[in-house]
Amino acid sequence: MSYQDLYARWKADPEAFWMQAADAVDWTAPPSRAFFDQGPAGEWFADGMVNTCWNAVDRHVAAGHGDRLAVIHDSPMTHSVSRLTYAQLQDQVARLAGVLTARGIGKGDRVIIYMPMIPEALQAMLACARIGAIHSVVFGGFAAHELAVRIDDARPRAIIAASCGLEPGRVVPYKPLMDRAIAEAAHKPEVTIVFQRPDCVAEMVAGRDLDWTEAVAAADPVDCVPVEGNHPAYILYTSGTTGQPKGVVRHTAGHLVALAWSVPHIYDIGPGEVFWVASDVGWVVGHSYIVYGPLIAGATTVVFEGKPVGTPDAGTFWRVVADHKVKSFFTAPTAIRAVKRDDPEGKLVGQYDLSSLKAMFLAGERADPDTVTWAEERLKVPVIDHWWQTETGWAIAANPLGVGLMPIRKGSPTLPMPGYDVQVLDEGGHPVAPGTLGAIAIRLPLPPGTLPTLWNAEDRFRRAYLDHFPGFYETGDAGYVDEDGYVWIMARTDDVINVAGHRLSTGGMEEVLAAHPAVAECAVIGVVDALKGQAPLGLLCLKKGVETDPAQITAEVVRMVRDRIGPVAAFKTACVVDRLPKTRSGKILRATMAKIADGCEVVAPATIDDPAILDEIRAALAGVGYPVRA
Ligand code: COA
Ligand code: AMP
Repeated sequence: MSYQDLYARWKADPEAFWMQAADAVDWTAPPSRAFFDQGPAGEWFADGMVNTCWNAVDRHVAAGHGDRLAVIHDSPMTHSVSRLTYAQLQDQVARLAGVLTARGIGKGDRVIIYMPMIPEALQAMLACARIGAIHSVVFGGFAAHELAVRIDDARPRAIIAASCGLEPGRVVPYKPLMDRAIAEAAHKPEVTIVFQRPDCVAEMVAGRDLDWTEAVAAADPVDCVPVEGNHPAYILYTSGTTGQPKGVVRHTAGHLVALAWSVPHIYDIGPGEVFWVASDVGWVVGHSYIVYGPLIAGATTVVFEGKPVGTPDAGTFWRVVADHKVKSFFTAPTAIRAVKRDDPEGKLVGQYDLSSLKAMFLAGERADPDTVTWAEERLKVPVIDHWWQTETGWAIAANPLGVGLMPIRKGSPTLPMPGYDVQVLDEGGHPVAPGTLGAIAIRLPLPPGTLPTLWNAEDRFRRAYLDHFPGFYETGDAGYVDEDGYVWIMARTDDVINVAGHRLSTGGMEEVLAAHPAVAECAVIGVVDALKGQAPLGLLCLKKGVETDPAQITAEVVRMVRDRIGPVAAFKTACVVDRLPKTRSGKILRATMAKIADGCEVVAPATIDDPAILDEIRAALAGVGYPVRA
């Protein structure tokens, strides 16, 4: 079947298409139908009864594949490789689930997971899924305050953490960060389970903290608990326009069906094959394709604790592909740019046997044609860009390797996947002609696996995604669809920036800068960065009478963002200006400043209050090294 046939088959009868896809899932009670017109945007397979952990782990053991490798942990940070079969994974997960149930934690209770890239992170997620607890994984690069915000929103009964994560040159002490977050949060979890790593053994709080290894060894394994199809499998927080992150909810059955469908059709991975996604379990990419997707498919997932470069060199990716016979590899373009920077000619690629590799997938940010070309020429396999979001949980637009590749157009993530009716709309919500830029929206309903709402924030869900274009989901991305239906993603329509494939809120950073006692007003913009795609830059106006050296203030705000949001914000540069350019109605002209910093020629917008301010901004940005044009 071709892509066109597949998409047409979905369009002709979405209900039949998704009911057929649902056959790939083991149901305790099958759903009576696929789509349920309920909730703010519809729900999928709502009346089926099902368990995610059963589908990801137990059913493979029950089918006689207990000896098959489920997880390969490859850690250049600790110079170690370890492996878990499906049977071993089942045992560990069932026992950890037993630890939770012994504490009275069960269906619907929230559990926050704050762990680095170790197999125990997957076990923690699966243990929650096993008993119907709703996990929320928090990325390790976030600071204690961000964790506290998530604790107060999700109100977890338990937190599962590791004692530390390992970053090049430093140990990140997760447990003390967790302790600080619990102290800051108004809500207090009853219990924490701490996995002690030898690199940093954390002090335990008596009566609250359980040692993972001891607790799991002593626990009785428990069975999978079937849940309703619309029971939340997890909450994953993502950046919005403010410092309050959005809790994206994922329902159990739609998640299972979407992943069971996408792993073979998009990534061409089947049982026993090796899939490697070099991301982190703290991001949606990690949830869908490090943890759940490959395991639901009965494949082997590689959990990689390292960086594209420096652990120990730019050949690490190719070494992992060769060592573990990876068939499909998925990473962010920024990672390939980092490899290319250190090994421009790709000499290290030639040192490894990459014959197992059939394709490389890129997502998280736009795959720039230079990076795609560099990788194609060296790896000699298709390099496939695909576009999606935390909210959707799987690709909106992709090139389905498992169905048959469509011609690649560099710079485009190719074509909409079944389930997604992608439309480009003008401000009034009318579809525009092919090739015309506009807001990218998806006609409702969204397919299975996408968000049905935001955690405890249905109004915000409607406001953020549904209200602007009635009948559509607003993606927040702008771009166009060409004459042949290829999708082109060009920019965000909001204040979200993309730094090294990580989605960050400039509004959240502005809240931190504004809290500095010397700062009267501020703006954070995303400027072009050759490695990370974008980097944040802060502009500060100081309060009258402040005599402190501006260099000291900028250093202080850089530290504040790192302490409050975390190192992942990569906020390294700020400069002091007298005034910020604004429209006559008082809106700060952030996009105009970003263009100036990027070295573009900028004409003052017609709505600007005082065009002279732009020259002040040019001078200030030139002063901190931006390639400003007069
Ligand atoms: N725990 C604690 N700190 C973390 C962390 C974690 N899990 N992950 C990243 N950080 C820290 C880094 O150590 C770095 O700190 P520093 O300012 O002290 O150097 C900071 O957060 C920024 O991290 P990151 O943006 O990941 O950049 P990096 O300097 O570590 O290098 C690149 C990463 C540039 C090589 C990049 O190409 C890359 O691979 N990024 C990750 C891509 C990715 O997985 N995206 C997810 C979407 S698919
Ligand atoms: P996240 O929710 O962190 O996965 O970030 C999603 C956002 O990243 C999207 O809305 C896009 O702005 C951007 N993005 C992800 N993948 C791509 C891609 N392949 N091309 C262009 N932008 C992308």
